[in-house]
Amino acid sequence: MSNGNRQLKEEKVFKDPVHRYIHVRDELIWDLIGTKEVQRLRRIRQLGTTFLTFHGAEHTRFNHSLGVYEIMRRIIDVFADRPHWNDRDRLLCLAAAVLHDVGHGPFSHSFEKVFGSDHEEWTRQIVLGDTEVNEVLRRMGDHFPQEVSDVIEKTHSNKLVVSMISSQIDADRMDYLQRDAFYTGVSYGHFDMERILRVMRPTEDQAVIKYTGMHAIEDYIMSRYQMYWQVYFHPVTRSAEVILSKVLRRVQHLYESNYQFKLYPSHFTGFFDGSISLEQYLKVDESVVMFYFQMWQDEEDPILQDLCQRFMNRRLFKYVEFDQHFIMNQWNDLQELFRQADIDPDYYLVIDFSSDLPYDFYRPGEEEERVPIHLLRPDGKLRELSRESELVEAISGKKRTDQKVYFPQDLLETPGHEQEKQRIKEILLG
Ligand code: NI
Repeated sequence: MSNGNRQLKEEKVFKDPVHRYIHVRDELIWDLIGTKEVQRLRRIRQLGTTFLTFHGAEHTRFNHSLGVYEIMRRIIDVFADRPHWNDRDRLLCLAAAVLHDVGHGPFSHSFEKVFGSDHEEWTRQIVLGDTEVNEVLRRMGDHFPQEVSDVIEKTHSNKLVVSMISSQIDADRMDYLQRDAFYTGVSYGHFDMERILRVMRPTEDQAVIKYTGMHAIEDYIMSRYQMYWQVYFHPVTRSAEVILSKVLRRVQHLYESNYQFKLYPSHFTGFFDGSISLEQYLKVDESVVMFYFQMWQDEEDPILQDLCQRFMNRRLFKYVEFDQHFIMNQWNDLQELFRQADIDPDYYLVIDFSSDLPYDFYRPGEEEERVPIHLLRPDGKLRELSRESELVEAISGKKRTDQKVYFPQDLLETPGHEQEKQRIKEILLG
């Protein structure tokens, strides 16, 4: 690898509410942060629709990416001069940290669900394609972009480096837990990161934790568990996500039926037919989406108009919990009653499964390709965390799925079709 990196004449610092300061000394990192693809992350919220539940959650993927970089930098400081650590990998780790979420689009989760777009594929294209990011990375040699991409995709042959950015305890998770806790204002999500960093050790194929750090790790796992249920799976956030997804589906449907839009969805058409180019994709951030939603509140189509008004003014769907059995037995009747009441069930009667969501707390050895946490015992042997900690054992591997039905209760209170609406309320609300 050629050395296309220089040290900055003067260290740059970002003030950060979570890590206090973020330090940049490498010109390569400074220039990466300055690329338009990374700057675009300032216009994409880290937690999607969560700001409608916790109004503080306006932090962006840019904040988070800098935070992951800073934690990575501190881990490398701990690893320096230890066996198994090679300082040549330093910039690879730091660049991967800055770029690990660069492919995320607006409200990623909903867009991916509705249009099947894939932020990992976009990340690959941004790192490897004709972009400012790629141009900066290539200063380190023609192979460098591919190496960074391999680290982010977890396919790089250096497993230690991969584990630092994606394992059960990595720079990514340590940042988002603390950051999401800070900005939502919840009291969960806090753990002693300084302590964890001090007891982290490099091995040949993963970062491990010294046995004496077990209780700090337990705290971290508990905070993940709490954040998972209290923030990431919050049913109100999911209600907003349901509405957002339905707006996207309605727009696609109208587009395909040649509806005459007042504001034509030009930024979305590439998503509808899967033809979207990287250049077009990078133009769609959350400010663009919010602009369309704002304008579509005045469309003629009553469903599009209503759904956009709901999203913009936070008139969300109500939710009730249901067991699978009940849903199976009553679902067809419910849909029919909705139709009879003139409420389109395709848009206003929705089942949502929490297991659809891309977060987990701790599941050693399950479908996850992420490496579980290993403790380094004084005798030099490694033990998987849940085998040593009863606390972690008690909560790991348990998939608590819940299903909720979302529907607009206010529409059931309007005049007309009272009988059907009454029947719907009896089924849904008991
Ligand atoms: Ni991340």
